Amino acid sequence: MALGYTLPSAVLVTSLFILRSYSLELNVSQAQAPTPDHDLVEFLQNFEYLGADQFFLHGATGRGLDAIAPELNQGGPPPLGGKLAALDPFTKDVILQFAWQKRVVDCPRPLLNISKQLFAEFANQAAGQTLSPPFDPYANTLNFLLASYGISEFAPPGYVRISPHLQNATLKTLVAGLLGVEFGQQAVIRAYLYERRNFLVFPYPVTVAEFTNSLSELGNRLGKEGTKSEGLVVPPSEGAEGKVSGNVLSADNDSLSYAKEPAAIVRVAYGRGNEAVPGGFFPRGANGRIARSFLTAAP
Ligand SMILES: *[C@@H]1O[C@H](CO)[C@@H](O)[C@H](O)[C@H]1NC(C)=O
Ligand SMILES: *[C@@H]1O[C@H](CO)[C@@H](O)[C@H](O)[C@H]1NC(C)=O
Ligand SMILES: *[C@@H]1O[C@H](CO)[C@@H](O)[C@H](O)[C@H]1NC(C)=O
Ligand SMILES: *[C@@H]1O[C@H](CO)[C@@H](O)[C@H](O)[C@H]1NC(C)=O
Repeated sequence: MALGYTLPSAVLVTSLFILRSYSLELNVSQAQAPTPDHDLVEFLQNFEYLGADQFFLHGATGRGLDAIAPELNQGGPPPLGGKLAALDPFTKDVILQFAWQKRVVDCPRPLLNISKQLFAEFANQAAGQTLSPPFDPYANTLNFLLASYGISEFAPPGYVRISPHLQNATLKTLVAGLLGVEFGQQAVIRAYLYERRNFLVFPYPVTVAEFTNSLSELGNRLGKEGTKSEGLVVPPSEGAEGKVSGNVLSADNDSLSYAKEPAAIVRVAYGRGNEAVPGGFFPRGANGRIARSFLTAAP
């Protein structure tokens, strides 16, 4: 696997430098009292950590920020259960680029659970039955990208929702930039899977399209905000302009990106449909004032 590491090491060094300068630049603002704008951006940083530091970086390198650049993790405990995925060289290259594209504002990292057991539980919940053998996101490229499909559903609709509420021009610019990168990554993941939509997710008798549809339906059920995510193949009535069933990009009936409330996002990420009960990817809950406020507002 020497090849896998040679190419990325140049990318790593360059991107590390960019990430670090960025974090220093933003740190200045943190000396001031947190603003509502800051709270909104901080909320979504939880999901930047989930994708970048944790799932993508581990999947592509077998290691997380703690091993590669401990100064970038802003404190917070190391993740649980991340590991090297058996990726083909092309996907490994792409995922490593994604890992280093994450821009983490100065917010502490939450405890994250990215163990294969956790993904298996989400897959069982989506399938409505216990899959045998358990779904393993690290087993091969297709499984890793199916898991990435799920993870890439968290941040983008959150950025769409918060952006109109931001007052601060610096943070608006940041969010517009993050939104572009996050949707770009989601589109790359969905395009790869769309090309393979009729493949079976071995060894289950389920196609890639069916698997993505059930993941999206699970997200919609747990989120409790109606339809906010769609799989790769939909009835034509729900496709673009009500005309096509291919659904490589997920968008609403007006072909606009879906927006999701912060509470709906953690209802899914916690795996329980309840924003007041941590679990799932965030065993102790997401960080920041917004996510914390949900915990005290238990129904
Ligand atoms: C950000 O600021 C905190 C103190 O407010 C400091 O401890 C930390 O080292 C700073 N981070 C960076 C990357 O400079
Ligand atoms: C906007 O946010 C930036 C970065 O967080 C901060 O430096 C700046 O002071 C804020 N501006 C206002 C007017 O609050
Ligand atoms: C991580 O998730 C798995 C599957 O739910 C669970 O067995 C394990 O206890 C979790 N770890 C923590 C620390 O919550
Ligand atoms: C989109 O349109 C379809 C068909 O008219 C309808 O069934 C569905 O509820 C609509 N979705 C939303 C989110 O409005």
